[in-house]
Amino acid sequence: MGKEKFQVLKSLNLNIEAGEFIMIIGKSGSGKTTLLNVLAFLDKFDDGNYIFNNENVTNLNENQRSVFRNKNIGFVFQQFNLIETLNVYQNVELPLIYDGILKKVEREEIVSQKLKDVGLLDKIKSLPLQLSGGQQQRIAIARSLVNNPSLIFADEPTGALDSETSMEIMELLKSLNEQGKTIIMVTHDNDLLKYATKVVKLKDGVLSLEV
Ligand SMILES: Nc1ncnc2c1ncn2[C@@H]1O[C@H](COP(=O)(O)OP(=O)(O)OP(=O)(O)O)[C@@H](O)[C@H]1O
Ligand SMILES: [Mg+2]
Repeated sequence: MGKEKFQVLKSLNLNIEAGEFIMIIGKSGSGKTTLLNVLAFLDKFDDGNYIFNNENVTNLNENQRSVFRNKNIGFVFQQFNLIETLNVYQNVELPLIYDGILKKVEREEIVSQKLKDVGLLDKIKSLPLQLSGGQQQRIAIARSLVNNPSLIFADEPTGALDSETSMEIMELLKSLNEQGKTIIMVTHDNDLLKYATKVVKLKDGVLSLEV
């Protein structure tokens, strides 16, 4: 906040094994989104260390951070964050365009496959606002998968959905986890904790393991 410093995360030591499904819980304002954003390189931290696959990634520069993000991380948001003026195909294709590596036909193949994986290939030409909330979140999940990341971060991915649709999204995340994706998710919903292999709780910026 301008020149004023506000410390959100205080004492935390989190070890995430490949293949885990971690859930982060805690009261509003406890720092869950901040923690997720730090881990996903969307936000910076001032102190401490971040080790990824035995590599110290604490001091990467801006360019290295974005390369790391593109290569390793998919992010899913509560409000889906699809671009309303782009159709489903264009939304899912976007990370591949930023990447700038693949040819158009290669991009088409990946986007179609990911849309098939989330069960929405038939909506390929729709605009986001022509879809239900659950469908929009599936599209956002397809978008998070196109770079084939090993880590998926999800900040209250079911927060804007009814309980039945939430379960469908959870089943989709569960199947991704079973296919080997490591998932780190924030939730307010205690009914969803059964999907986790590990639950951690943030309280006033301090992390503890829930048992
Ligand atoms: N950009 C910012 N500048 C200053 N303070 C911030 C900023 N972003 C978040 N905060 C503060 O950091 C604290 C943690 O915020 P954070 O968004 O991580 O909480 P949260 O646990 O995700 O809450 P919620 O459950 O409501 O989403 C809050 O006190 C918030 O006001
Ligand atoms: Mg939050």
